Amino acid sequence: MTNHRLKLITTQDGSHSLMREDMNETYHSFHGAVGESSYVFIEKGLEWCHQQESSKEIGVFEVGFGTGLNAYLAAKFAMEKKYHITFYSVEPIPVSADLYAQFNYGKTSEDQALLQKLHEAKWGELAVVHSHFSLAKHETTLEAFHASRSFDVIFFDAFAPNKQSEVWSLKNLQKCFDMTNMGGCLTTYCAQGQFKRNLAAAGYEVETLKGAMGKKEMVRGIRK
Ligand SMILES: C[S@@+](CC[C@H](N)C(=O)[O-])C[C@H]1O[C@@H](n2cnc3c(N)ncnc32)[C@H](O)[C@@H]1O
Repeated sequence: MTNHRLKLITTQDGSHSLMREDMNETYHSFHGAVGESSYVFIEKGLEWCHQQESSKEIGVFEVGFGTGLNAYLAAKFAMEKKYHITFYSVEPIPVSADLYAQFNYGKTSEDQALLQKLHEAKWGELAVVHSHFSLAKHETTLEAFHASRSFDVIFFDAFAPNKQSEVWSLKNLQKCFDMTNMGGCLTTYCAQGQFKRNLAAAGYEVETLKGAMGKKEMVRGIRK
């Protein structure tokens, strides 16, 4: 962990994020970690999927577990809507306990306990975190991950393409497309031109939506 130099930061909506100092890259928008994740992944991913589907079971695959914020918000969504979410996530550099113990995402002690549980879930196993939420974290990269199932929603939450262009490659997006159920989607904060062309080349129908927290655009790819 020390060679990746992760520093706790507070974003403008008051929620925590991390700064990876060796890359000079934050895990979320500086304008608001919770604000950005709630909009890009929960509203434009999960809510959208929930509106399309009558099924009470949603499968999510996330690229980059990081702070666990997306998993936490997805778990809260599942509890609120009385859905069941099975959430898979890949992460090559897990955040250490001294950092995740400080995250301020939960407003109650129950919520903080939920966040803790998500981080403490064993890597490489499917854990029942709550009756509405199961989690399978894999300590690996998207490139090395072998999916044993397909998903309704993909949260593509890698570092920006100017920092980690290889993660946004056509090959990786084709892999995501193959993992996406028919009618499902991939959602991301990124709206870079080459990424959108790769997403379309992978087979997704590309929608450019209004971005989060003052950002002009974000993208959702739909598998039709
Ligand atoms: C922008 S951060 C977001 C993380 C997380 N979703 C969150 O809300 O905190 C990107 C994450 O992707 C992880 N990552 C880096 N390379 C990756 C790869 N090749 N495959 C999957 N995840 C990767 C990073 O370690 C980091 O945790």
